[in-house]
Amino acid sequence: MFKSESCAERETRILDKLRPIPGVVFLHGLRRERKVGGRCFGTMVMELCGPSLRDLAMKGPLREEEVAEIVKELAETLKGVHSSGVVHRDLKLENVFTKLQDASTIRPVIGDFGVATDDAREMSQSCGTEKYMAPELIFVERYGLSYTKAVDVWGLGVIAYELLKGYQRSNLEMHLLREGEFQWPANLSPEAKNLIMGMLDLDPRKRLTLDQVINHPWILENCSTTRATANITSCCGGKRSTPHSSHPAVKKLRVA
Ligand SMILES: Nc1ncnc2c1ncn2[C@@H]1O[C@H](COP(=O)(O)OP(=O)(O)O)[C@@H](O)[C@H]1O
Ligand SMILES: [Mg+2]
Repeated sequence: MFKSESCAERETRILDKLRPIPGVVFLHGLRRERKVGGRCFGTMVMELCGPSLRDLAMKGPLREEEVAEIVKELAETLKGVHSSGVVHRDLKLENVFTKLQDASTIRPVIGDFGVATDDAREMSQSCGTEKYMAPELIFVERYGLSYTKAVDVWGLGVIAYELLKGYQRSNLEMHLLREGEFQWPANLSPEAKNLIMGMLDLDPRKRLTLDQVINHPWILENCSTTRATANITSCCGGKRSTPHSSHPAVKKLRVA
């Protein structure tokens, strides 16, 4: 995949900064390569991850305990990301991968920092994926407004919603979420609904903080001793390896 020079530099610089955070995809390095038509291409070499959360959710809804573990872990990772001054801005199922490891445990890994920023001045740019954008992001440029890291909590809320419902191909439901309308799956617990409504509060100032997510009763109740489990072997051909595998993933970029 090829991107512009500024995108390549942004993503590698930001991933470099986030290296100590275990739930962020690990960047081994950037290799500059051949010139093609005067342009220099490069390859980002990253930790090889397993299937994305979209791959898992396409098979159908996950159990509440599984989703609670994933949401908790993502919230903890995002806390580290935000503490490093970075906002992801494009959180969605397909940008969250899973750790490759021996146990059949879902350990989410946040990837694709292609539109992430560590510059507060950029928090007035419209970016991300329309289907998943927080309401305050939609008209930010038209009205000369700005937004906060709360856009990532919105993204996390949509991820939780989709994991509990199964992957939604259509954009319609996400538009409804931005109007405060939820189409809950049958039998979803009131506590799960309460957490999701808190993460998807239309007002970013009233939206839950990551600490409030981590300490929400539904998370505490469902994340006691056991970890989320699911059959993810079928998505990754049964292959498992240790974190920061010796078989890296690569992403092609235009670097100059
Ligand atoms: N570290 C990784 N391990 C395994 N697959 C990856 C990894 N990074 C990216 N991919 C694969 O490449 C696809 C595109 O990567 P991503 O970083 O999301 O870039 P973009 O969405 O901007 O094209 C992902 O959906 C995934 O299938
Ligand atoms: Mg992506």
